[in-house]
Amino acid sequence: MSKADIETLIEAEPFAKGTARHAYRMKSDTNAIVKKSIQPRNYSNFLEWTIWLGSEPHPQLENVLGRCHCLSVTGEYLIMERLDDIEKSDYRLIRDVPAWFNDTKPSAFGKRNGVIKIRDYGMVHFAELLN
Ligand SMILES: Nc1ncnc2c1ncn2[C@@H]1O[C@H](COP(=O)(O)OP(=O)(O)O)[C@@H](O)[C@H]1O
Ligand SMILES: [Mg+2]
Repeated sequence: MSKADIETLIEAEPFAKGTARHAYRMKSDTNAIVKKSIQPRNYSNFLEWTIWLGSEPHPQLENVLGRCHCLSVTGEYLIMERLDDIEKSDYRLIRDVPAWFNDTKPSAFGKRNGVIKIRDYGMVHFAELLN
């Protein structure tokens, strides 16, 4: 999708901000959010998308990684399933995370229908990933 196409689908202001991306609600779909890269190279979006595609042959990751729906042509925008903030009482529901996942702070996880998934996997240990 193009920048103009996605901009018409999202709200004007982000509802959350990270270091590399801002998160926007979609006007017509409460089940998805859009991450807009605020850095010149859209590294985190590209990486999340690449990992998501690479997880396809591993069904055990289906309920571990937030589902990515679409990456825009330039990588500036990533559409992802909405995963709400978790609370302290949810921590016990976090499953084993992949060895390459090193950003294990609570805000990196989100929940949907009682399942906790990683919603920020735009930074990883490449050595673990490639070995
Ligand atoms: N799938 C999601 N559903 C709902 N909110 C999200 C989702 N992914 C990220 N967020 C919110 O957006 C913020 C920034 O996104 P994040 O993936 O952490 O970007 P960054 O790479 O900049 O750290 C998160 O801290 C969280 O509050
Ligand atoms: Mg983050």
